[in-house]
Parts: sequence; C-alpha cells; structure tokens
Amino acid sequence: MFSITSRLRFNRIFKPVNETHCRYRVVLGSAGSGKSVNVAQDLILKLSDPKYAGANLLVIRKSEGTNRYSTFAELQAVIFRMCGEYWEDFWIINSSRLMITSKITGNSIIFRGVNDKKQREKLKSITFPKGKLVWVWIEEATELEEADIDIIDDRLRGELSNPHLYYQITMTFNPVSALHWIKRKYWDVVDPDVFTHRSTYLDNKFIDAAYYSRMERRRNDDPEGFKVYGLGEWGETSGMILSNYVVEDFDTDIGNFDAARYGQDFGYNHANAILDVRFKDDVIYIASEIYCYEKLVDEIIRMAEQRNYDRSRIMHCDSASPEPIKKWIACGWNAHGVFKDSGCVMSQIDYLKQHKIIVHPSCTNTLKEMSQWRWKKDEKTGLYTDNPIEFFDDAMAALRYSVEDFRRIKTINKPNQVKARRA
Ligand SMILES: Nc1ncnc2c1ncn2[C@@H]1O[C@H](COP(=O)(O)OP(=O)(O)O)[C@@H](O)[C@H]1O
Ligand SMILES: [Mg+2]
Repeated sequence: MFSITSRLRFNRIFKPVNETHCRYRVVLGSAGSGKSVNVAQDLILKLSDPKYAGANLLVIRKSEGTNRYSTFAELQAVIFRMCGEYWEDFWIINSSRLMITSKITGNSIIFRGVNDKKQREKLKSITFPKGKLVWVWIEEATELEEADIDIIDDRLRGELSNPHLYYQITMTFNPVSALHWIKRKYWDVVDPDVFTHRSTYLDNKFIDAAYYSRMERRRNDDPEGFKVYGLGEWGETSGMILSNYVVEDFDTDIGNFDAARYGQDFGYNHANAILDVRFKDDVIYIASEIYCYEKLVDEIIRMAEQRNYDRSRIMHCDSASPEPIKKWIACGWNAHGVFKDSGCVMSQIDYLKQHKIIVHPSCTNTLKEMSQWRWKKDEKTGLYTDNPIEFFDDAMAALRYSVEDFRRIKTINKPNQVKARRA
C-alpha cells in the first residue's frame, strides 16, 4: 500500500503540539503561523489511525455557520492533500450535514457552534455512530465564553476502552487581549494537564514573500495589532470600530432585499476587496465577497463574472484610482468612483455603526478584517483618535463605499429615490 501520510508536510515548531497527550492543548500565535493547518493535519492523521479506533472529534467555533468555511474546509483540504484522487476509499465527507467519517477506523468529526442557549444545550447530547467523544478542537477560542468551555470539558469524562485513547481539548487562537480569561485559566498556570505553545508567521515555512512584507508593514502602521497578529504576544486590541455585527447564515436570494450595492476597494499588494451588500428594513447584509491579492483588474472582472455578480448593480469604488474604474465601465459594469469630501470616512463609519450588520459566514476575509478594525491611538495621550488604523482595512473600505448613496440620502428603503438623485 502507498503511504498516504507522507503527502502531508509539517512545520517543525508544532512537533511537541502533535505529541502531547495533555488534556488541554493551548496553541496560540500570530496570524499565519500555521496553527489551524497543523491541528487539522494532526487530527486527520490520528482519526485515520487504527491505533485510535473509537475516537471522535467535535469541532467548535462560536458561530456554527463559520465552521463550513474554515474548520470543515481545512479538514477536508487535508483529506484531499493526503489521499488525492483516492480520498473516497478512505473517507466519507457529508457536506450538507457537515460530518466527516474515516472508512478505516469509523471515527467521525462533527461541527457545532455556541452562539446561543439552544446551541449550547445541543452540546450536551452529542453522540457518534461508533466510539466516544474524546477530542475537541476549538478554533478562535478567544471568541468563546469561559462557561462554554466548561460545558465541553464536562463532556470528556469516563473510562476509555481503548488504552491508546486520551481526552484532549485543543484551542487555537490569536492572543487578542492580555485580560482574556483564557490567559488567566490556561496560560498563566503551571498545571501538568495544560500544554501551551506559541508560534509566529516566521515559523511557517509555507508562507509566501508577500505575506512577510505585509507583516513588516503592519509593524509600522499598527504596532498594537502587530504585537498580537505579528509577534503572537498577548496584547490589547481594544478600540474596536464595529461591534454591531453578527455572523449569520441567511437566504441570499436577491428578491429578499430592498436594495443592493457593490463596494470595491482596489488593491494589488493590498487586497482587492469587493463586497456584495444588501439592505432590508434598515439592516445591512454582507452576502458575499471577492478578496484577492496580486491580481490584475481583468482577472478580477473575470472572477466577478464567474461568480455571477450583476453588472447593472451600482458598484461604488475607491475614486483614488480612476484607471481600474474605467476598465470596469468598459466591460459593461455600473462602476462609479465615490466622491471623497473631508470627514466622509467618519460619516461612513457613523452610518455603519447606526445599522445592524449581518455578515454571511462565507465572508471569511471580511470577518477577519472586521474583528481587527480599530481606532488609532494617540501615542502621547494613549487615547483613541477618530481615525481608523490604516492596515488590513480593504474589505472595510469596500463596506464604507457600498453604503455611500444611502448615507448621503439617509435612507436605505427607497432605491428609486437613489437612482433619481444620481441622474
Ligand atoms: N503544514 C502545512 N502545509 C502546507 N501549507 C501550510 C502548512 N501550514 C501552513 N500552511 C500555509 O500557511 C497558511 C497559514 O496557515 P494557517 O494554519 O491558516 O495559520 P494560522 O491558523 O496560524 O493563522 C495556510 O493558509 C497555508 O497556505
Ligand atoms: Mg487559523
């Protein structure tokens, strides 16, 4: 038989992570250090190993819907990398129910959220076709409440019939706040049950040069963010700009909304971000995103076509770059530059803060930016200013632009009125 495990490659720094049998495996680090890929690879290998027969994995994220686009996608990608075209000989992947089962061991993976009471209750009644729940992976664990992890912890009890099995909760996250309960409970303690590990993007040999240079830019433009997302050190990422958003699955059928716009921020080394934004009853919905680096305008237009984006819909674009706007218009798109006057960034942000924002869980890059979008601090006074940090804010710029005409007329319920004003 050919060796399927050898198709996976590992970063050396995670060797002790993958070897520990401690009950709590606390894996923190900078963005892009390879934590998620490593844990996904480690767990897939173990679940497919007959030595660990009877083990099952529960994967948790705060918002259940985001699992599909992050942890589920990551674990599935590992299976494809590992088994190539033979993956169906080894695994059953149920994409609609979000369940993965090894055909070799019968071990399974299921995915849950802890967003509300009902979801938390569901955790108490999880069962698997074969064996017991022994492993839990909590991705972006800082999003959870302390009580959530306690519920999960309670589930991992009782004798295990297979002597090779051991209970383990793995937490992966960026160390966003030195005041976070995870630091107090798991990081600052000396406990034989707790294994802690730190990694940075410099430990990840699979990162490309462009990522390194973006991080170097962050060192200058966003020193506080760099501490957390670049150095993987416990920091203080307060001063969040938007806290009025939720992640929720919703029906994206265009007929459900009062109006729709695209917002686009151009970029090459920075991300080029296009958001598909909808409006209904004073609520802003972000339905989908196109988010890419180092792509030419023609390529991005092709992506929008492939995604069936609507050419006739108003697309508000960054007006600092007239050339790409001309190209979009030449290809038949309804693209316009957003007129920038003094104070417009603040008014756009004010407008966004005054509306509830619902983000579809597929918008993974938008969500990452949104959770890191913060006000700049005045270095002398230590107080937050009225200016956003100008880093990792490309989807946020697209979002600001997308509400532009509604912001100016102060309503989102009358799309015809908007057209009349533009004419
Ligand atoms: N073992 C690996 N094999 C192949 N690519 C990897 C591996 N580890 C990390 N990468 C690459 O690095 C990127 C960042 O890794 P990821 O695990 O998402 O970082 P983190 O979770 O620490 O933010 C991944 O998208 C992938 O391209
Ligand atoms: Mg990750």
